[in-house]
Amino acid sequence: MRKNLSRREKVLELLYQFQDQYLSGEELSNKLGVSRTTIWKYIKYFREVGYEIESSSKVGYRLLKRPDKLLPEEIKRNLTTEIIGQDILYYQQVDSTNQIARKKAEDGAKEGTIVLAERQVAGKGRLSRDYSSPQGGIWLSCILRPDLKPVWATRVTYIISLAVAKTINRLTAVEAKIKWPNDILISSQKACGILTEMGAELDQIDYLVVGVGINLNFALAELPSQLHTKATTLYSELGEKVDRLQFLQRLLLEIENYYQRLTDFDAILAEWKEYAYTLGQEVVIKDAKRERKGIAVEIAPDGALVIESNGKREKVYSGDVSLSHQEFDSGN
Ligand code: BTN
Repeated sequence: MRKNLSRREKVLELLYQFQDQYLSGEELSNKLGVSRTTIWKYIKYFREVGYEIESSSKVGYRLLKRPDKLLPEEIKRNLTTEIIGQDILYYQQVDSTNQIARKKAEDGAKEGTIVLAERQVAGKGRLSRDYSSPQGGIWLSCILRPDLKPVWATRVTYIISLAVAKTINRLTAVEAKIKWPNDILISSQKACGILTEMGAELDQIDYLVVGVGINLNFALAELPSQLHTKATTLYSELGEKVDRLQFLQRLLLEIENYYQRLTDFDAILAEWKEYAYTLGQEVVIKDAKRERKGIAVEIAPDGALVIESNGKREKVYSGDVSLSHQEFDSGN
């Protein structure tokens, strides 16, 4: 059994251990040193959050099915990270997990704390857009406190997009690509967006909140119709659901692995380029002030996209990228 489990986690762990047989209330109360009434309260809690638990007054309890929810005690059961996801704040419904995570970060939440919701009703996208976040997706914000100057914050966004693309490619039968700076595409349609928000002093990051929204186990029809030509979901691509829990656990591990290698950014960038969708293509980049057109030729060591037009190269640090033959400015 993992160390430092809460009592609730211990009850769950025992239910899993004894899944093939019955576990009597007496056995549970002896193992945990609490009364049978207390055990009953835990069972009641688990049923309320969606577990199917059989019970018989003669033989005891038996776990039949876990709910399709990203419950912290389930995430932690097989989580192998040391930092990311050690503290989990979980909600059924919120306005925006990034908004909650920023508040928690301001209040001193630990590095690696994650905020998760089953759905968001005011999800935030880049450039002040809305981000549709129905039930079945992964709506996650992660608090990081890298020892970096604010100008290097984009490095963290690179590792997150890399972690998402790698998780998709390792765990599912579809191929994910990354559109600069950090949209994840499947079949050229957006399946995940990343929004990084920062709290910083002039020369030191205090916190980053990296928000990741993945269109996982829901049909495209759940998204607003104007996104149907630009977005996709893993469910629509695969025709079946992905194990969200396993997906999330793997994603957190990938994030941690890359985060621990943040100082070796050259290697990270080299790997990122293997997933790059944009490089070699003619692109249009729009920001609040102007529109630029050119061939995306390179990612500079500082994370800028280098475009070439009429023999001249220019670095671009932010903006909305579309391939010049496609239209791409969307939320999800
Ligand atoms: C984008 O592509 O515009 C970025 C979208 C980021 C969405 C995620 S969902 C979890 C987190 N909470 C939010 O409100 N936004 C981010």
